Amino acid sequence: MTPARPGSSRRTILGALAALPVTACARESRGQVPPRAPDRPLKAFAAFPVGCAVTAERLANPADAALIARHFSQLTPEWQMKMEYVLQGDGAFRFDGPDAIAAFARDHGLRLFGHTLVWYAQSPPAFERIDGQGRPFADAYRNYILAVAGRYRGQAVGWDVVNEAVAEDGDGLRDCLWSRNLGRTDYMRRAFDNAREADPDAVLLINDYNLESLPKKRATFMRLVEDLLKAGAPVGGIGTQSHMAADLRPGAVCEAIGDLASLGLPIHVSELDISLNRAGGVFRPRADLQAAQNRLAQELAEAFAGLPPRQRFAFTLWGLKDDQSWLRSLKENPSPPWDEPLAFDADGDRRPMFDALAMGFGGRAG
Ligand code: XIL
Repeated sequence: MTPARPGSSRRTILGALAALPVTACARESRGQVPPRAPDRPLKAFAAFPVGCAVTAERLANPADAALIARHFSQLTPEWQMKMEYVLQGDGAFRFDGPDAIAAFARDHGLRLFGHTLVWYAQSPPAFERIDGQGRPFADAYRNYILAVAGRYRGQAVGWDVVNEAVAEDGDGLRDCLWSRNLGRTDYMRRAFDNAREADPDAVLLINDYNLESLPKKRATFMRLVEDLLKAGAPVGGIGTQSHMAADLRPGAVCEAIGDLASLGLPIHVSELDISLNRAGGVFRPRADLQAAQNRLAQELAEAFAGLPPRQRFAFTLWGLKDDQSWLRSLKENPSPPWDEPLAFDADGDRRPMFDALAMGFGGRAG
């Protein structure tokens, strides 16, 4: 670990502390077919929260609810805490779905994680109607965040306050309804301030994707985080979604976690799935893609588990079973039935990816 020079920047000092995961990147000892882990809950292998994206309907299914309660310690509403669900056309709020998820978390002693307050991809009619109206827009924006984050105050352990703010290719920031009305980064600063006003205790995160596969996007994201911190935004953590293709270069994930850790903030692996279908070498034998998936899952789990405890916010999978994955319903290049991106198959049985994660988490099964 390189000692930091006196007067080094925040990232340099913290980077020196976080270098360990990067040095471990070189190791290629990960087995292609991990040994079967003991028959224990997935969360029992981890010294940090292990999350799952859920819907109220999935929690109403007794078999799914039992699996979720057994294997996970944190829930993220997959879409029912987003504007598209909460904010009705007439400006009214709808909370039955997220309230059901919050109630399940409370009743089963699970953490609840809020996703997401502000996302470029959603600009519902109620806001479109006041596009360009200055103060009314800003007031409605603050009112929405206060209403949603305030409702789950004392329940939600944290929030994705801003989601996917960096441009697809990493070249700058996205333009969106929010940036056009409130300023390119000012809409983010406002969102963090409004969320902090709503909930003084929740950990407030900024979340993005392809941070593992696109170093340029990761660098832009990290600069954005530093700029927001300099502007006084109460950014308390960063989410790396980790929607990945199975054939991602060995070492890329470990380097990404080491980079992100250099900011010194808690990290949330927030939306893990590892697609066989989106792999570049999709015409390879399925067994090769499954082995690559296991290797990648273990690399990510090891890199995350190797972080200092205060930087291990949570490790979340974006769904319970393969057939429930959002990848199946993508408009472009939806996953075929043979894609297996998650830790449980359609029958609710553990997949080798479960074992790879358990091994990477490194904990002793409790
Ligand atoms: C997806 C959900 O999984 C889908 O059910 C929904 O229709 C669209 O959004 N990055 C994110 C998540 O931050 O909110 C997205 O979730 C997946 C990509």
